[in-house]
Amino acid sequence: MIPQQLIARKRDGHALSRLELEALLKGYLQGDVGDDQMAAFLMAVYFRGLDDSELETLVEVMLRSGDVLDRSDAPGPRVDKHSTGGVGDKVSIVLAPLAAEMGMIVPMMSGRSLGHTGGTLDKLESIPGFRTRMSLGRFNGILDSVGCAMIGQTDEIAPLDRRLYALRDVTATVPSLPLITASIMSKKLAESLDGLVLDVKVGSGAFLSRTEDARRLARAMVGVGRARGLAVTAVLSAMDRPLGRSVGNALEVRESVACLAGKGPDDLRDLVCELAGEMAVSSGLVLTLAEGRRRAADVLAGGGALERFRRLVRAQGGTLRLSRDDCGLPVAPMTKVVTANRGGVVAGIDPRAFGYGVIPLGGGRTRQDQDIDPGVGFELCARVGDRVSRGDPLAIVHGASPDDLFVGARVLEDAVKVADRLTVDPLPLVLERVVSG
Ligand code: URA
Repeated sequence: MIPQQLIARKRDGHALSRLELEALLKGYLQGDVGDDQMAAFLMAVYFRGLDDSELETLVEVMLRSGDVLDRSDAPGPRVDKHSTGGVGDKVSIVLAPLAAEMGMIVPMMSGRSLGHTGGTLDKLESIPGFRTRMSLGRFNGILDSVGCAMIGQTDEIAPLDRRLYALRDVTATVPSLPLITASIMSKKLAESLDGLVLDVKVGSGAFLSRTEDARRLARAMVGVGRARGLAVTAVLSAMDRPLGRSVGNALEVRESVACLAGKGPDDLRDLVCELAGEMAVSSGLVLTLAEGRRRAADVLAGGGALERFRRLVRAQGGTLRLSRDDCGLPVAPMTKVVTANRGGVVAGIDPRAFGYGVIPLGGGRTRQDQDIDPGVGFELCARVGDRVSRGDPLAIVHGASPDDLFVGARVLEDAVKVADRLTVDPLPLVLERVVSG
């Protein structure tokens, strides 16, 4: 195999055979194909796409690049949720312990920040001591004792996704339907699930922002699941504004803890209950989505999910101080409040600007090997549709230095629009669902 010949074929719009694609991907895993060549190939896929047979091969090679989780003797249905990526999307942190408390087993494999979107692993690692890398034996042990466990792609599970994911992040090749489909479905198929719920984001903060593209992505992922006997439900949800009020790793964990305690922003709670309801339906715990939503809301209100989260954090080596306002999480040394420079209605909050805005504060990456500052980020004081007067707080920047506060404030001034009236209606929180036929 000559990698550059295969890259050129894809660049010129031809389909690769199964053997060719397998050789390229396996060559990358073994070190015979370099990061530079794989980055060029990913860019060619970004522009040219993959046909059904190429997509199937990509999923298969990514899935088989590692082990498949052992089902052990799970005392309940194994169900997971995965998001296509959004801004302020801390749903997994609430959902995993909530679903476990509802009686499901949740072996959750998440990712790091990708493009302008945050990553569940980075958020969890803002909890002092929390480990997202562990042996599969330990992972299974936590699943047995807590009912949920949260890790990243490892050398054992979907290692090819781990490498491609990091490369896509820094080469602007994330927003590709086949690459997202293969990345998500290879990880999820490796979890040996009974049911999977996908949260497919729509809007300017999503990788594929238009509803029709999100729908195509949802159908592609549901189709891959169906072909392999996995029941998949995809929920299209709004990402035309950040989810909840906080964007930034530790800030989002704090908001998740509030949600687990039955508080926190309504949109976060409602989406969590919707997805938990879908998970409960797909695992056969309830017959209707309405019943699933209701159960989820009751469990959140009762505090059981928060206690489950505390056990999860302890089992994964972390320490949370729930009696403190900051939960014992890292806090940025300084803050700056950005206020409205006119009265009117908050007509738009650009999620993508928020997502990219966290990176110069130190809360996201521009290179694969960068450490991140967990304490920095943004907190919204107003939401789309709110009336504000001149001088009212719109949002707070949490930063490490006066320069960072200045940079963050500029981001906010551009991202939060105040106008005489709403110019575009916000998307409904849940737009539609796509289910396995
Ligand atoms: N989440 C993933 O796991 N992979 C993607 O490519 C996008 C979102």
